[in-house]
Amino acid sequence: MKMKPISEVVLSTPASGIRRFFDVAAKMPDAISLGVGEPDFHTPWRVREACIYSLERGRTSYTSNYGLQELRDAIAAYLINNEQLEYNPDNQILITVGVSEAMDLAMRALLNPGDEVICPEPCYVSYKPCILFAGGVPVVIPTTAQAEFRVDPDRIRAAITPKTKALLISYPSNPTGAVATREMLQEIVAIAVEHDLYIITDEIYDRLTYDTTHVCLPTLQGAYDRTIYLNGFSKAYAMTGWRIGYAAGPEDVIEAMMKIHQYTMLCAPIMGQMAALEAINHGYDDSQEMIEQYNQRRRVIVRGLNDAGLPCFMPGGAFYAFPSIKETGLSSEEFSERLLMEEKVVVVPGNAFGDCGEGYVRCSYATSIEKIEQALLRIARFVKKVS
Ligand SMILES: Cc1ncc(COP(=O)(O)O)c(C=O)c1O
Repeated sequence: MKMKPISEVVLSTPASGIRRFFDVAAKMPDAISLGVGEPDFHTPWRVREACIYSLERGRTSYTSNYGLQELRDAIAAYLINNEQLEYNPDNQILITVGVSEAMDLAMRALLNPGDEVICPEPCYVSYKPCILFAGGVPVVIPTTAQAEFRVDPDRIRAAITPKTKALLISYPSNPTGAVATREMLQEIVAIAVEHDLYIITDEIYDRLTYDTTHVCLPTLQGAYDRTIYLNGFSKAYAMTGWRIGYAAGPEDVIEAMMKIHQYTMLCAPIMGQMAALEAINHGYDDSQEMIEQYNQRRRVIVRGLNDAGLPCFMPGGAFYAFPSIKETGLSSEEFSERLLMEEKVVVVPGNAFGDCGEGYVRCSYATSIEKIEQALLRIARFVKKVS
């Protein structure tokens, strides 16, 4: 039977390029994956235990649509203590199903059909689809390795039209590991103020900065009233499967996001929220230990990639290296496919994160030093062979 076609916008959006090679790799027992953007650590035991204990006490209900009051209070306290950033936990903080849901809600709450959102690339794979699914139009701005993948504020200025509604900023960056400077972010905020734009800032990797201190965008002068701040527990606390994130921002925007969340999700799972409460209150040291290990691995992988003939700048944050593979003469896809088939190493082609990612691959170092070293030997052998 011939049914009517499904949504055009969904049909025309390609599936995520991140997972493409994973199914092939799953059937190769000795494959090494630098593909997934997920901590290789278990969630700290104290966090798992807190969840088990809450289950034993029968905490299995819905929570408030905004999320558990205790968790919102803890997040508000954390943001005051760490960023001097004050949000009212009653109506300015919304607990979501990961930053993924928060991003979707932010777009749906802000955009009318045809509104443009400026988004520097390469960027996390969900950004453009979220804008499109909300009826918006992504306007992408390329960034370059020469500029260490920091966005040039002049290019943002040049991309603004009467339809521009918001800027989507995310540092530290997935996939490049780039971090922002205070000056650059302040200039971006000034542009937003001048043109009366919202800023959506995804700071999920804020704890994972190695050489510099993270600059929290809503703390900058002029930013607070127009910024929707997104963060979550997946990366810093190795809690990807618990699916807890949050949004903080102006009361009216958070209320609009809550309305969508209320009808579509109702609330984030209480087990995840109980675990997140333990993480934010007592997980700092566990998280810090993981971050120190990422830092060691970062140095090993960046040195190894450069030695192998793949120029790679030192990423200042997140857990990704983004080397250039241009000198091999292969496209990002060819490189990734052949590296997997010939040397059993999974990396993600840079073009999965936007056209300007072509000529690069993303290597996640959220895996053990032993595996990273093995993978580097295989990558070096492969590059020698193809170059
Ligand atoms: C930049 C960025 N934002 C959001 C997410 C999704 O995070 P969550 O697990 O909180 O949905 C990821 C996951 O890789 C990410 O890299």
